Amino acid sequence: MTEHGVVTEATAATQLADERAPVDVPRATDEVVVLDYGGQYSQLIARRVRECGVFSELLPHHVGAEEVRRRKPKGLILSGGPASVYADGAPRLDKELLELGIPVLGICYGMQLVARSLGGRVEAAEVGEFGRSQLTVREHGRLLNGLPAEQTCWMSHRDTVFEAPPGFTALASSTASPVAALESVERGIYGIQFHPEVVHTPYGQEVLKTFLRDICECEMTWSAASIVEEQIAQIRAQVGDGRVICGLSGGVDSSVAALLVHRAIGDQLTCVFVDHGLMRKNEGEQVISAFRDHFKVPLVAVDAEERFLTKLAGVTEPEAKRKVIGTEFIRVFEEEAAKLAEGGEGARFLVQGTLYSDVIESGGGTGAATIKSHHNVGGLPDDLQFDLVEPLRALFKDEVRAVGAELGLPERLVWRQPFPGPGLAIRVVGGEATKERLDVLRDADFILQDEIRKAGLYRELWQSFCVLPDVRTVGVQGDERTYGYVVVIRAVTSDDAMTADWARLPYDLLEQIASRMINELREVNRVVLDITSKPPGTIEWE
Ligand code: XMP
Repeated sequence: MTEHGVVTEATAATQLADERAPVDVPRATDEVVVLDYGGQYSQLIARRVRECGVFSELLPHHVGAEEVRRRKPKGLILSGGPASVYADGAPRLDKELLELGIPVLGICYGMQLVARSLGGRVEAAEVGEFGRSQLTVREHGRLLNGLPAEQTCWMSHRDTVFEAPPGFTALASSTASPVAALESVERGIYGIQFHPEVVHTPYGQEVLKTFLRDICECEMTWSAASIVEEQIAQIRAQVGDGRVICGLSGGVDSSVAALLVHRAIGDQLTCVFVDHGLMRKNEGEQVISAFRDHFKVPLVAVDAEERFLTKLAGVTEPEAKRKVIGTEFIRVFEEEAAKLAEGGEGARFLVQGTLYSDVIESGGGTGAATIKSHHNVGGLPDDLQFDLVEPLRALFKDEVRAVGAELGLPERLVWRQPFPGPGLAIRVVGGEATKERLDVLRDADFILQDEIRKAGLYRELWQSFCVLPDVRTVGVQGDERTYGYVVVIRAVTSDDAMTADWARLPYDLLEQIASRMINELREVNRVVLDITSKPPGTIEWE
């Protein structure tokens, strides 16, 4: 599968999903497994557990008790899910999971599963409970120890637990849930109807902490940075004295993956950076200076601008542009790999910046309501006959950033916003990506980024960039008629690019950006703002 004609890192992860166990990283720290029953927030639960200092993996609910046992977790969390426990085909609870000798916490659907299978009363309520709700703690028990008697929490359910199973204590109720939390300390089984993982449940993290620290007795010592040493050992064990190659795009994933591998095996690694001439201003130089000059990573930088622009001549249709760029990228990479192999041993291993979110999604827990496709920059197909080295397979994006910072990666690379593999070519829309247009776009984009950074907004935005439609409009500048380009400002907030909202940039900032673009770029005489969310729009214009 290719994503818009450009093979992405996620593509490789997808192809591998069937062959690999999710993440088998030997680790010294405690682990808690989250079983995914298809809830919207399941990934977030694993992330929150990690934020508490306990490593956590999200596994599809159907993996079975044996697989959970094999990981030797200190506790088990059953996630929420979109189904009613009574719906046909709704995920069931494997009762063996309650007999593993480790504490179990059911969240939302997870709690209903537990309650139902142990003899509690779970029924569809007349009204659902969606959004903010008031939780009243009647008995604190172990799970809600130390929490206020009244608190706000976030709910999202229609089925409701009306009675806790025999032997369980009902700890709390909420606006629409007679039993909103329950426990049996004796059996080591706990449940909450509300979502502790979302920010709208102010004491949510406290509940998780109590479960992890006091109930599971975990040591809270895990951190993203703590995996650096583990990964270094693992990479060494995997590649031995073999040669390794890495396609560096300047994006945070490939940058952190490359640095980690370099820490592990030094000059056995060669990075290949293909500058296709479709990067943002100064970006190529920044990558080269960070890797070659600062970190002393063996780096082949290929200036392929002319080659790409020649291939792009006359191509206007976005999918066609993507195909041309994707194919050419692979060709250049293969040529460089072949050159490196001349007169010596060729690379057997290829570094990929596959993230944990790619692994989870391609592992595809059944029952999940949506599976997003995640693209990344500079991915290569795995029929290039390399063994993959994927040191970030256990990490979420924000954790990769933490590792990048730990390894000393410059702030600009650590916090770089996502950038499409085909680069600026798909932001020159409706026309050919010529050098002249790309330069106008690059300069406009530079001004935008500069002002956004100065305003301190760069990290808050998922992406901020310019689009250059193949349109000219009339203007008047200095008493003269002009006929210039229109630049579009696109700035969005998002968590995962699946949905996005247009960013409400301050008017003063927009004015400053527009006036700089028109004053500094002689080809531009009009600036407009895109106020479309996704859906219905996409983030890129293409
Ligand atoms: P859309 O435009 O589909 O984009 O809303 C979603 C996110 O994906 C990025 N994107 C790409 N990333 N290769 C990539 O590595 C690509 O071909 C590609 N196309 C889109 C886009 O910038 C946004 O963050």
